[in-house]
Amino acid sequence: MAQCFPGGWLMAAGRLQREEFMSIMKDRKILLGVTGGIAAYKALELTRLLTLEEAQVRVIMTESAMEFVQPLSYQVLSGQPVCTDLFDLETESRIGHIQVATEAEVAVIAPATANIIGKLAHGIADDYLTTALLACVAPKIICPAMNVNMFESKAVQENLANLKDWGFHQVGPDAGDLACGVQGLGRLASLDEILAKIQQILTSPALQGKRVLVTAGPTWERMDPVRHLTNPSSGKMGYSLARAAQRLGAEVTLIAGPTSLPPPSGVRLIQVHTARQMYNAVVEEFAQVDVVVMAAAVSDYRPKAVAKEKMKKVGDHHVLELERTEDILLRLGELKDGQILVGFAAETEDMLRNAKEKLHQKNLDLIVANDLKAADAGFASDTNQVTILWPNDDTETLPLADKEVIARQIWKRVEKLLQR
Ligand code: CTP
Repeated sequence: MAQCFPGGWLMAAGRLQREEFMSIMKDRKILLGVTGGIAAYKALELTRLLTLEEAQVRVIMTESAMEFVQPLSYQVLSGQPVCTDLFDLETESRIGHIQVATEAEVAVIAPATANIIGKLAHGIADDYLTTALLACVAPKIICPAMNVNMFESKAVQENLANLKDWGFHQVGPDAGDLACGVQGLGRLASLDEILAKIQQILTSPALQGKRVLVTAGPTWERMDPVRHLTNPSSGKMGYSLARAAQRLGAEVTLIAGPTSLPPPSGVRLIQVHTARQMYNAVVEEFAQVDVVVMAAAVSDYRPKAVAKEKMKKVGDHHVLELERTEDILLRLGELKDGQILVGFAAETEDMLRNAKEKLHQKNLDLIVANDLKAADAGFASDTNQVTILWPNDDTETLPLADKEVIARQIWKRVEKLLQR
């Protein structure tokens, strides 16, 4: 049974109310890949319906798709430039294909030809769409549309089976009259079904049921009642990570050193000052969590003795004796019992080499490295530019982006690790 909403589109009865659907779609970043089939005209309506609900639709067209429909039509309907040419200097400098891929919360390929299915199943990246999809870690929905014999061929079926194994969702095809004059399976699924799948993906939080521990901010190591040793960490990266995990459905505990940030709502906040307090709080929580992300800038040293009274200046020099603090992450690496451990590496030189060393030394599942000397990145900045390193030596450099965006990207990688 289908129902027609005043906004103009159909949804199966009993599913979401339109208002609810609107709030789910609002500002969500959807990558729509259009490939060369007659059903490309139907993807225009899909674009219109999504933008009507205030989703941000980024359309990528293949060369053959443009034989069926003009990019301008998609541009007008989506309100955003359409990506077509990987080597177009202007589009690439305004919005790079990796950014398009990493920003997407869901990617929909509609219509998907046998050609794109084959390329995706074999890791071929020879145009804008295939390159962006290969770099995209968001959930992907493939909506095949082609001749029935092509669809039923062993090649297409095997390719689709592989894609499904790798986590692609498939919607359709439907049976009916095909553009080639025959009847059978091969029609693009109804827009209603495609929209319902997008909605289902956007509403099933990826970290539902997961317990997550995030640390943030600096630590303060007391010298005397009025002074401490610290660093300029603002806590923004850790707070963004905690907020993003909470939005993704996780139960979040945030253990934070002193910051001026407002407590994120829906997150359990434990405030600490010193490295030792952070160590005790983290170790106490560790056994109950699935993931730990150590974004805190923990002091490596503390004054060996804390003066009871304000230290008075005496002479021209003062030597302060320091002792090592607990290395929290190193300890978690030893205690690890199935938890995912994510560290940060704040570096001013040899970033990759140092980060790799920390990754192995602290027994981490991934490490997020940032170059403290880079402009608009690191401590106290609203943006960050990070490189992610895995134990198998894979590295991935993300474009400079707001810390909120970087946080979502980090969780996407963690989601994958949790699926292992
Ligand atoms: N970390 C920690 N406990 C410490 C110091 C660091 O848990 N006492 C964590 C940080 O939160 C980060 C990772 O370890 O996730 C790496 O921190 P970083 O300051 O980059 O490096 P260190 O291990 O302290 O090494 P170094 O200062 O020599 O670069």
